[in-house]
Amino acid sequence: MIFKIIKVDEISPAIGAEISNIDLGSALDSETVKEIRDALLRYRVIFFRDQDITPEKHLKFAKYFGDIVEYPMVNGLKDYPHVVPVHKKADEQYNFGGLWHSDTSYLPKPPMGAILVARILPAKGGDTLFANMVKAYEALSAPMKELLDGLVATNSSAKSDVVKSRVDSQKDMRSPPEPLIAEHPIVRRHPETGEKSLYVNFGHTVNICGMKDEESLPLLDFLFSHQRKEEFCCRFHWLPGSIAFWDNRATLHYPLNDYHGHERLMHRVTLAGDVPV
Ligand code: OGA
Ligand code: MN
Repeated sequence: MIFKIIKVDEISPAIGAEISNIDLGSALDSETVKEIRDALLRYRVIFFRDQDITPEKHLKFAKYFGDIVEYPMVNGLKDYPHVVPVHKKADEQYNFGGLWHSDTSYLPKPPMGAILVARILPAKGGDTLFANMVKAYEALSAPMKELLDGLVATNSSAKSDVVKSRVDSQKDMRSPPEPLIAEHPIVRRHPETGEKSLYVNFGHTVNICGMKDEESLPLLDFLFSHQRKEEFCCRFHWLPGSIAFWDNRATLHYPLNDYHGHERLMHRVTLAGDVPV
């Protein structure tokens, strides 16, 4: 793949590329948008440095790639309801999403992706790990692939660790009366590239449909540890002006919680996805 407009530098062999030679706050022509989308599809998560964008420009950039959706359970900024603050204050212990997960896989149509802009960072720590679920799937043995190919899993917003990770980091949450639950194939096909990827995650996947817990839990445990192997991952160190844009259909992420006593604030915009198949 040749990129003529943007400059693309891979940050690890498995996943992730840094994109430069671009100002995300300016108007983008269709070729530039296409190159950014191609880079996203190929590297699964793309990063930008030294960007200076307002919430308004953040939304405008996101709109080049799809429809913007609300994030369930967390309130957006007062003037920009679709820009959601991901905030850990200095006196808080839990960080939002602080475990390996794919975003909101408990929705019938989980997001296609998200664009996260760093606003306030600890002097050190607070990196985010990303993992490539196409590679994780491909690395499985043929019999395991065959077993998983036909299976469906239940994803729930109520998985305990997730709730815990939300409780004191998001004071302005809107909790649903009932947990949100969705069933999705364990192996999904990427709607744009046709690739198969592993679509379970520690944060939200609770069991495998049709199996007893004593059957599904060990299998899920294996998949949860398999899918976060270092060889499928990259680690992103945020700096002021950094932005990450991930393809939520083919990746997991894990924001490290190693900066207690310091504040970290990110702004997040979420893009609509389709029903996983
Ligand atoms: C998210 C999330 C990652 C981070 O916004 O979905 O998991 O690095 N945050 O804060
Ligand atoms: Mn997340």
